[in-house]
Amino acid sequence: MGFRDFTVTPWDVKGDIDYEKLTKDFGVKHLDDKTLQNVQKQTGDLHYFLKRKIFFSHMYFDEILDEAKKGNKFYLYTGRAPSGPVHLGHLIPWIFTKWLQDKFGATLLFQIPDEEKFLFKDNLTFNDTNRWAYENILDIIAVGFDQKKTKIFLDTEYAGHMYKTACMVAKKTTMSKLKSLFGLNDSNNVGEFFYTCMQSVPAFLPTIMEDKPTRCLIPCAIDQDVHFRLTRDVATQIGFPKPATILSRFLPSLTEGGKMSSSIENTAIFTTDDEKVVKNKIMKYAFSGGRESVEDHRQKGGVPEADVSYQYLTYFMEDSNKLKKIYEDYKSGKMLTGELKQITVEVINKFLSDHQEKREKAKNKIEDFMVHD
Ligand code: TRP
Repeated sequence: MGFRDFTVTPWDVKGDIDYEKLTKDFGVKHLDDKTLQNVQKQTGDLHYFLKRKIFFSHMYFDEILDEAKKGNKFYLYTGRAPSGPVHLGHLIPWIFTKWLQDKFGATLLFQIPDEEKFLFKDNLTFNDTNRWAYENILDIIAVGFDQKKTKIFLDTEYAGHMYKTACMVAKKTTMSKLKSLFGLNDSNNVGEFFYTCMQSVPAFLPTIMEDKPTRCLIPCAIDQDVHFRLTRDVATQIGFPKPATILSRFLPSLTEGGKMSSSIENTAIFTTDDEKVVKNKIMKYAFSGGRESVEDHRQKGGVPEADVSYQYLTYFMEDSNKLKKIYEDYKSGKMLTGELKQITVEVINKFLSDHQEKREKAKNKIEDFMVHD
């Protein structure tokens, strides 16, 4: 008793996530003040995702910073498996990746593993994954990556560049290891077992593309770490540098508990939602940290830590002074839940109207970003 009940795997995230415990269980490191000072020193800036511990843990990020300091190139790598529309939670690692790209001038490899969703989802055809891939690419481009330094690819359209390296990973990866790392069993299909080899490959492509050992930093949500634990394990065995990761929390679901998810209705705000829909979702569903009655709220104050609208502001309101004032006013009872929700609606709608404009423009730019076999 007393344990928080939660699950975090690449295919399932639910419950009241204890990030402290995850950091220990996954054997990754806290992003400590020393590392953050190092980032500040090198970039002259510290993204608010770092200040607020939205990105909170890592592996080998210090080594990436050392490389950069020496003037050596490193690459960025992240990805998106296409099974449906993009929601706000998906954007968090991408926004941070763009910041890293701007600050370090790094080339970004953006993997769209269409076969992942084909293999893992019962009802998804390659036609479906293809349609979602090209929809999702609009959101990726809208984040503002540097066209000259970004390569986006679907696994099924770039497999020729990946297959040999995937086989090198596969040769060093036993079934028993996959079973214990991923919880796969004898009823999973063989494609599901092989898939992690494909997700490992882009971590090694920098070395292949540069034709010399080149480090790679992977910004992603912490559920993906298990793939890269495997990647790190095999890296040295097959002659590549180990990839570094920098890991984020999940944007909470609108309703209580777990991460924002496309598959559970009314827990997600999609990038294509219009103002009215956003307003309705937040007003109606966003879990409130307020008290039952206005009198009670004024007297005892709200609980910002439990309030989903407040949590969203920590992800989308850049102005830390404003955020602090909201925190204090809500906690003291001066601000009511309705007012807090109204502010959140405005912040998210402003963000989305900019995003949607860029998403529209992205329609003409797709091929400028894509690489194919
Ligand atoms: N497996 C990821 C997903 O389900 C997609 C992905 C592929 C990815 N490569 C990645 C995510 C690298 C982060 C970093 O969406």
